[in-house]
Amino acid sequence: MSGHGSPIPMTSRRAGPLQGVAEVPGDKSISHRSLILGALAVGETRITGLLEGEDVLDTAKAMQAFGADVTNHGGGEWSVRGVGVGGFQEPENVIDCGNSGTGVRLIMGVMATMPITATFTGDASLNKRPMARVTDPLALFGTQAVGRTGGRLPMTLVGTTEATPVRYEVPVPSAQVKSAVLFAGLNAPGKTVVIEKEATRDHTERMLAGFGAEITVEDTAEGRVITLTGQPELKPQVIAVPRDPSSAAFPVCAALVTPGSDVLVPGIGLNPTRAGLFTTLRDMGADLTYENERVEGGEPVADLRAKYSPNMKGIEVPPERAASMIDEYPVLSVVASFATGTTMMAGVKELRVKESDRIDAMARGLRANGITVEEGDDWWSVEGKGPDGVPGGGTCESFLDHRIAMSFMVMGFGAQKPVSVDDGSPIATSFPIFETLMGNLGAQISRDNA
Ligand code: S3P
Repeated sequence: MSGHGSPIPMTSRRAGPLQGVAEVPGDKSISHRSLILGALAVGETRITGLLEGEDVLDTAKAMQAFGADVTNHGGGEWSVRGVGVGGFQEPENVIDCGNSGTGVRLIMGVMATMPITATFTGDASLNKRPMARVTDPLALFGTQAVGRTGGRLPMTLVGTTEATPVRYEVPVPSAQVKSAVLFAGLNAPGKTVVIEKEATRDHTERMLAGFGAEITVEDTAEGRVITLTGQPELKPQVIAVPRDPSSAAFPVCAALVTPGSDVLVPGIGLNPTRAGLFTTLRDMGADLTYENERVEGGEPVADLRAKYSPNMKGIEVPPERAASMIDEYPVLSVVASFATGTTMMAGVKELRVKESDRIDAMARGLRANGITVEEGDDWWSVEGKGPDGVPGGGTCESFLDHRIAMSFMVMGFGAQKPVSVDDGSPIATSFPIFETLMGNLGAQISRDNA
């Protein structure tokens, strides 16, 4: 199955230790939001370090289709000349968001309160994912949506001409839903209030404030209450996108399971709403240290140093930590295979509606490589085989999911036999330099099935 041209089979195998510096690309969440908020500001926003993965490039094209002027100056430097809040033009063609749930859900939110109509589609993975979680709250503003059965893409949204602000309690822990409602609230007069019971990544709140919107966040007994005053004039910004902790997870975890490794991953944001994996790895006994801790652009940042860690123990990952590491469970389950004892991951139902059903995708691939996995609706557990005990030798389906493909590549670096995926092409959605970067550290990935 591929939505990205021909499938690219990939195999990783044990080689020497991984050593050196791994400069991972820009943060995907912040990259999408930089382009979108730049498109809503009046004047020119300049962005450095933008992630040039397929997901973000699809958002850049979409912003152009809605009337913003987006220019790639090369070397990760981009500029966006925005049209102002409420200023989107109606796109002439269908908006194709590729593989990106973040892209489509955030853009739907933005256009929902503008008097325009747009049709959205995506690849085979995105067109299976639930959109009602976004269109339900957008209907409260007055937006109409018609999609396929079960609220799937392709879907047409008719923006409302008379938006009224809403008060909405997000029923699932999702930064995409929270952000879609806040973005819709931007063009509604008055105060839009979003309440989340569990804190999810807060880039939208921070960046809206940075662009000059009036936004407050209060921690109350009901949860985090976010209040946004609509119809601000957003001011263009100069944005340096920090490196992505979710991409850093791969070289970090690769070093932990590959004998003799010592890898430095510099400049990684440790925003508490994103850094749950690193805390979990340290709880498991990983040799992972934070060097040169500092604050950059208002966010805590450190250089991560990860060394081979043969003494890791399985743990129960606290369910309340799930939102802060939701994209990292696939690679954590690989690390758990190299630990001693069982790792229990509960409160993770959201994993079933990502680019793939990530519990199912990982369980199948782990089992194909000799690992015992148990699973329920919102939990799964992995029985560790110890640092030298992971058999490997399996071929795994990536299900059009970049993080599934990269996780199994990490497994192959430490397993007894090579590990293959049927299709590594989705890696380009978030981490286009993955193979080169891992190769430079000494890893062996080949484009074939063993
Ligand atoms: C994201 C939110 C998360 C995450 C995704 C990026 C964002 O999705 O999985 O990769 O940038 O807002 P959910 O909001 O569905 O949890």
